[in-house]
Amino acid sequence: MDLKQYVTTVENWPKEGITFRDITTIMDNGPAYKYATDQIVEYAKEVGAEIVVGPEARGFIIGCPVAYALEIGFAPVRKPGKLPREVISADYGLEYGKDTLTMHHDAIKPGQKVLICDDLLATGGTVEATVRLVEQLGGQVVGCAFLIELLELNGRDKLGDLNIKTLIQY
Ligand code: PRP
Ligand code: ADE
Repeated sequence: MDLKQYVTTVENWPKEGITFRDITTIMDNGPAYKYATDQIVEYAKEVGAEIVVGPEARGFIIGCPVAYALEIGFAPVRKPGKLPREVISADYGLEYGKDTLTMHHDAIKPGQKVLICDDLLATGGTVEATVRLVEQLGGQVVGCAFLIELLELNGRDKLGDLNIKTLIQY
């Protein structure tokens, strides 16, 4: 299936100069959403993922169905003030802003093999901060999966030699 045809491009959103790649038109199409999920499930099996980690909010849309299909757990990465128990934090930069991410201090077991899932790899700031959180908890990042990669932003450069899978490139 050519997934790219289901992505909607919105110019100058959320700010002038940003070309926004909207995945809601993959999600609202049953076969396209299932196809995208199935591709990442296959990758998760290849890398031996034992738990899925996804950053709020679009990482939940990708990561949760993958975890469900594999019958493994999902651990959320959230913006500050959203998780109710003790958290660890990491700061990061975005294509259009700056923020902090948090995880529960006990979300990952030491040595657990982690697959990070998100909708889109842009500058790599979000996933790089997520990798720092997982590693701080003793997890081993065995793969990072995205629907979309924005090649000109060189997000991969922030991720060293981590294993990365993207389904659509711009
Ligand atoms: C978007 C997207 C990725 C991130 C990619 O999330 O869903 O998580 O930006 O950009 P990066 O590679 O430059 O870090 P956003 O922070 O806009 O939050 P949302 O998912 O809640 O919309
Ligand atoms: N997150 C960061 N950059 C983005 C973009 N250009 N489109 C959609 N989501 C994004």
